[in-house]
Amino acid sequence: MNKIGLFFGTETGTTRLIAKKIHKLLGDDNAAKPVNVNRTTPEEFLRYEALILGIPSYGDGALPGRSVNCIEANWEEFLQQLNETDLSGKRIALFGLGAQERYADTFASSMMPLYRALKDYGAEMVGDWSIEGYQFKHSASVENGRFVGLVIDQRTQGMLTDERLKAWVGQIKPALVIVQPDG
Ligand SMILES: Cc1cc2nc3c(=O)[nH]c(=O)nc-3n(C[C@H](O)[C@H](O)[C@H](O)COP(=O)(O)O)c2cc1C
Repeated sequence: MNKIGLFFGTETGTTRLIAKKIHKLLGDDNAAKPVNVNRTTPEEFLRYEALILGIPSYGDGALPGRSVNCIEANWEEFLQQLNETDLSGKRIALFGLGAQERYADTFASSMMPLYRALKDYGAEMVGDWSIEGYQFKHSASVENGRFVGLVIDQRTQGMLTDERLKAWVGQIKPALVIVQPDG
């Protein structure tokens, strides 16, 4: 499967909205339509060599899902289904949703457990992002001074979303789009 797979978890729809924007930026030729992880299977997910995954934050360093009182199944449940499948050879970029004013101590922190798990399963992680321009006290999703993926805050900085998405998609596209050999 040469298209980029686009999957997201969501509780209230914001991460779906951002996934749709990313799909639009990449175009139908490059990216598959975004799919909710609670409506897919590991088989479908594993068809892709390159993936962009979206995750909202619910709590400090926890995956969103039933354990943190989400109503919808989310990444927690999907990772359980994935069951430590070998992801060697896959390239994955993450984007995470959060709210820096209300959750300054746990800002966008759910991205980290997903990042760690996928890396542990052998995936090559791409798409880290500067922490500049955000105001927060702590985020579990910072490694070596950078977010491990793009962070979007629709609540406090929605006006910056489109330019952030454009810059990030431009950054990750060369790593994720597989160029077809001629003929
Ligand atoms: C109960 C609850 C807990 C939350 N916890 C966090 C958090 O710890 N860190 C954070 O950055 N945002 C937190 N948020 C904000 C959400 O991550 C943010 O609103 C996100 O856009 C929701 O995405 P969704 O609509 O795809 O579910 C929380 C929101 C709710 C309602």
